[in-house]
Amino acid sequence: ELEDKKEKLYEINKEAARYFYKKLKTNNQALFYLKKRSIDRRTATIFGLGYSDWSWDSLYNYLIKKGYNEVDIEKAGLIIGKKGKDGYYDRFRNRIMFPIIDIRGRVIGFGGRVIDSSNPKYLNSPDTLIFSKGHNLFGLNILKKYSNIKKIILVEGYMDVISLYSQGINYAVASLGTAFTQNQAKYFKRYEDKVYICYDSDLAGLKATDKALEIFKKEGINAKVLILPSGKDPDDFIKEKGKKEFEELFKDSLNYIDFKIYFYKRQYNLNDPDEKIKFTKNISNFIKNVKSPIEADVYLDKISKETNISKEAIKKEIIGKSRIID
Ligand code: UTP
Ligand code: MN
Ligand code: MN
Ligand code: MN
Ligand code: MN
Repeated sequence: ELEDKKEKLYEINKEAARYFYKKLKTNNQALFYLKKRSIDRRTATIFGLGYSDWSWDSLYNYLIKKGYNEVDIEKAGLIIGKKGKDGYYDRFRNRIMFPIIDIRGRVIGFGGRVIDSSNPKYLNSPDTLIFSKGHNLFGLNILKKYSNIKKIILVEGYMDVISLYSQGINYAVASLGTAFTQNQAKYFKRYEDKVYICYDSDLAGLKATDKALEIFKKEGINAKVLILPSGKDPDDFIKEKGKKEFEELFKDSLNYIDFKIYFYKRQYNLNDPDEKIKFTKNISNFIKNVKSPIEADVYLDKISKETNISKEAIKKEIIGKSRIID
């Protein structure tokens, strides 16, 4: 019964994806937008990109004609009931449509980006019987095609995944417009120590990177961070610099502690004694959770070099907080 209900939603989403896909081919504004973003035909086809037009009910009418009932279409998140009135309207209008496809090739939801400057910039399917933002990732279906892939990059956005792919980096996935979750981290386990985070290089992106690192750590994954020039995202960067320079980023990737230092350094001025103390206290703080004494010692070394504060002093600071280092 539940399985039947889910099956129906997969079917409706697939039909909707087909509809959007066809619409894209005949809409010059949408095609022009993709061109402007340097997405070629091949890439658009591989990701099954589409377009939702201006109409309030064209998808609704199309799916009804196909024989689906409106309650199911609403449950798929594609239409919304009018408030205080009968009838429905299409959720997605005048947007480039990104189908979100699971490992088994089923369309579980959509992201849609406006092609003008209206808001919200991105709109996603709501959580449904078959779609939960915190449990899914964008791009997993593409990754699965390439079974020889040895590493994986976590990025913020649909466009990052697609743009990297079009330039030959076919191993990026994106979390879906919410904070990265423990559930999503599980997908990365098989890549062991070849997991990289490459979020947008703005404050929000750095904070999100810090959180994602902790989530990976809980999952036993030692993720590393690719650092982009300030203000850039992977899409911007690879468009500007190309594949080779993107691949250079791996050489300078930051591990857990290196990222912490980098992150806190951007928030404190180490030439100011008070701020240096705060920096050192803050960064020392999480060493208390490090279980391996060897690992802790390496971290202490780095912090000491960074601040010119003796390892001894930092150690004593931490001993007040923990029994591990002694
Ligand atoms: P960004 O704003 O960084 O997206 O948000 P982007 O991909 O760089 O956007 P453009 O197209 O290049 O301008 C990253 C991700 O956060 C989610 C989307 O999944 C997006 O890809 N997001 C962003 C939303 O869900 N809603 C929004 O309004 C904005
Ligand atoms: Mn961003
Ligand atoms: Mn971005
Ligand atoms: Mn952006
Ligand atoms: Mn972007």
